[in-house]
Parts: sequence; C-alpha cells; structure tokens
Amino acid sequence: MGGWPILCCADLWEEPVSLDVVILAAGKGTRMKSDLPKVLHPLMGKPLVLYSVEMAQAVSERPPVLVVGHAADDVKQTVGEAARYVLQEEQLGTGHAVAQAQEALQGSGDHVIVIYGDMPLLRADSLRSLYQMQQANQAGPITMLTLIADTPRGFGRIVRAEGGSVQAIVEEADATLEQLAISEVNPGVYCFEAAWLWSHLDKIPVSPKGEYYLTDLVGLAVDEGATVNAITIEDPNDALGINTRVHLAEAEAVMRQRINEAHMLAGVTIVDPAATYIHPGVEIGRDTVIQPNTHLWGQTAVGAACVLGPDTTIIDSTIGDRCEIRYSVVEGATVEDACDIGPFGHLRKGAHLESGVHMGNFGEVKNSRLRQGVKMGHFSYLGDADIGEGTNIGAGTITCNYDGVRKHKTVTGKNVFIGSDTMLVAPVTLGDGAATGAGAVVTKDVPPDTVVVGVPARILRRTEKEHPG
Ligand code: UD1
Ligand code: CA
Repeated sequence: MGGWPILCCADLWEEPVSLDVVILAAGKGTRMKSDLPKVLHPLMGKPLVLYSVEMAQAVSERPPVLVVGHAADDVKQTVGEAARYVLQEEQLGTGHAVAQAQEALQGSGDHVIVIYGDMPLLRADSLRSLYQMQQANQAGPITMLTLIADTPRGFGRIVRAEGGSVQAIVEEADATLEQLAISEVNPGVYCFEAAWLWSHLDKIPVSPKGEYYLTDLVGLAVDEGATVNAITIEDPNDALGINTRVHLAEAEAVMRQRINEAHMLAGVTIVDPAATYIHPGVEIGRDTVIQPNTHLWGQTAVGAACVLGPDTTIIDSTIGDRCEIRYSVVEGATVEDACDIGPFGHLRKGAHLESGVHMGNFGEVKNSRLRQGVKMGHFSYLGDADIGEGTNIGAGTITCNYDGVRKHKTVTGKNVFIGSDTMLVAPVTLGDGAATGAGAVVTKDVPPDTVVVGVPARILRRTEKEHPG
C-alpha cells in the first residue's frame, strides 16, 4: 500500500506521547444491509469513521492507524490524510485486523489503544482514563472498558472470577446460557502494552467461525497469570455500537440530545429538543429561540436573539443577531442582523442579505446581494443580482438571469422601486431611484430617477431626486 505520512519524532513533542491508536474499519457491516460500507454511514451528517478518528486525535498526536478492507478506497478518501492506513484483505476477525497494523507500529510506542470504527458516541475522556490506567498497570498488559447494559445488543459478555477480576470475554454466539445472562458487556475498547500485544496476536486461536477474536487476548493474558484491568463506563449510551440502522437511529437520538442540551445550557431556547436537529460544530448565540422541526447543519453559525423555525433548514450559512427565519431553507448564505425571512423563503448559495432585509412569502435568492433594508415581500426570484439599499422588490419580480447559455447580472441602485411582476432581463442596470411599472419587461438599462413601463419597457418620465447615504 505504501505512502505513509512520515511520523514526527517523539523528541519534538514537549511530552513524548507513546501511544498509537488503531481503528478497525475493514468490515462490511453486513447487518446494515447497504451498498455503503458501515463506517461511512452518516451520523448527524458526518460519516461514522470520522468520529473515531477525532477521538483518536484527542488522545494521541500520531495519526491513528485505520485498518481498512471492505470499500477501502472509499473509506480512505473520506478520512484522507488524518490517518495512516493498513489493508486487511480478508476480514478474518478483529484480532486478525489488529495484526495487520503490527508491521507499521511494532517498536513505535509503549501503548496501543484499539477501538472499533462503529462506536461514534465514545468519549475521548474514556480513552484518556484507559490510557492512564494502563500506564500505571504493573500487573498486566491490558486495560479495557466495560459496560453494564440492560440489553446486551449482541456484545461479548465479561466473565469475572469470584474476587471480581476479569477472566475472559465470551462472544454472544459462543456463550453458555449462564454467560448470556451476564449484564456486563464488552464495548470493544482496549489499551494494550504494545510489546505484549505484538507478541501475542499470533497466539489467538481460530474460532469455530474461522475468525481470530481480539477479545481472546483477555483469556490469554489471564492464563499467563496477568491481571486485566477494567473501567466501567458510566453512561451506557457512550457504547452504542452501530450494527444495524436501528442502532444508527438510536445513536443519532442520543447525539442529538447531547448537542441540544449543550446549547440549552449555553442559553439557547429549544422548544422541542426531540424535533430539533443541530449538527456538531454549529454555533448559536444566547437567547436565540429554536422552534420545532428546525435543522441546523454543516458549517453554520447563528447569532444571538434570533427566532428560527418552525420548519426551517439552515445549511452552511452564517446568520446575524435578531433574525427571524420561519418555514424556510437557507443554504450557503450570509444573513446579517435583523433580517426577517419567510414563510417559505429559499436562500441559495451566495445569497447575502445585509442588515434589516425583509424577504417574505415564496422568495428565492441565489448568488445575490440585497443591501441594507431591501424589501422583497412576495413571490420573487433574484439570481446574480446586486440590489441597492432601500430598494423595494414588488410581488412577482423575476431576474431573467439565464439566456440558455450564460448567467448575467442585474444591478439596481439605491431606493429603486420595482413594480409587481417586473421581468429584469439581464444584463441590466437600474440607476438610483428608478422605478418600473407593473408587468414591465426591462431589457435596457434604466437611468436614475426614471420610470419605465411596458413590454419591452420604455421611459415614461424622469424626476431627479436626492439619494443621500
Ligand atoms: C465486537 C467484539 C464484541 C464487542 C462488540 C462491541 C470481537 C470478536 N467481538 O463484536 O466482544 O462486544 O464488538 O461493539 O472483537 N472489523 C475489521 N476486520 C474484521 C472484523 C471486524 O476491521 O475482520 C472491524 C469492523 O469493521 C468493525 C469492528 O471491527 O468496525 C467490530 O466488528 P464487528 O463485526 O462489528 O464486531 P462485533 O460482532 O460487534
Ligand atoms: Ca460492532
């Protein structure tokens, strides 16, 4: 495979981190019943595997090693330079998957954390505690997370001895009835002493299914007289592993709740958190109110004291303070302070509303700047336009910006009055204070303070005015 990013030498770091993270993501995810590999299914808009990569980045400065196999190229393309890659050509189990990373990592560091690429809700803090505990562990080569679960979800069961020490992990398929009743299960997160890990992977026995289970290392360590340490996760939701689309929806609900709670605690009112969909990374100012069925996605930032929704979707956009946006879709747009949009507005890529713009029922704006205080009340389309301050766009106004081959610009000056149902056939420019009569089809530039009417529009009269500011 080749093409490894070059590792930074440890002595360049203030405190040498001697930890590598291996993420297993070679499986197909058969239970997803999908053409898309499991780890690329999005959770809150982001592919699952990226959550694992971010977790790894939070505990180690070294790029994690991603074990890829099924749809390897797609996974690599999604993760890009954030990881190093090893290929597991045949998916012979989680133990076999980790073994693929041996050549790349042997001798690299003192510790190795292994996580699975299908556990997006795990917290980086849990990985840190795991690492610290294993660093301090003189008595054994493994520290793992465990979880007390109401429903075992097919997880391996943790078998403990009388005194409470961990003895083994038994996969559900291989468990006895007695073992199936155990409520402590394996979320699949481990920190290993590196040298021990690399010297024991080839000792894993083959399972009845023909796989090599990473989990069998626990039994191997115990057989050697070592102690396997375990930390029990407090919030069972952290360990929602995703095997089916039902699990995906469960994880989405948990993540949604966590994100919404953080915003509410930071001063945002969310009227119905179960019906509010805010992606990670979205910023919202205090005293903003979010009505039900509102989606804030991607790279979006919203200012303070806004009212968003109901039924509004905002994607990759920046919204200022004190804006009201109802029943509308805003994509790739910039909206400055005190704008009022909707119901049923659509801002598309490159729409820029300066402060105090009003955009009412059924308006669409694309790649256009509406300068301060522009009013666009009803049923209009503005594309590739620059609309001057204080201009009024009458109901039904359309910029005819496309001639079938190319897009053209419409420019208006300040305080222009566009009459209802005007067609602005671009390229066209209207001067300050110009006006059009209802139904005008404007094919030629209009001088300042001039009224045009008709089809095609002709000059009706001209009255010079002052246009301060
Ligand atoms: C695994 C654990 C189980 C644990 C559960 C938690 C083993 C044997 N079992 O079971 O104890 O309770 O996770 O979620 O480890 N993968 C590869 N290559 C392979 C096989 C798997 O890269 O050959 C990857 C998958 O892409 C996935 C992860 O490893 O990201 C886990 O595999 P999965 O098949 O989901 O394991 P579980 O059956 O859930
Ligand atoms: Ca799994």
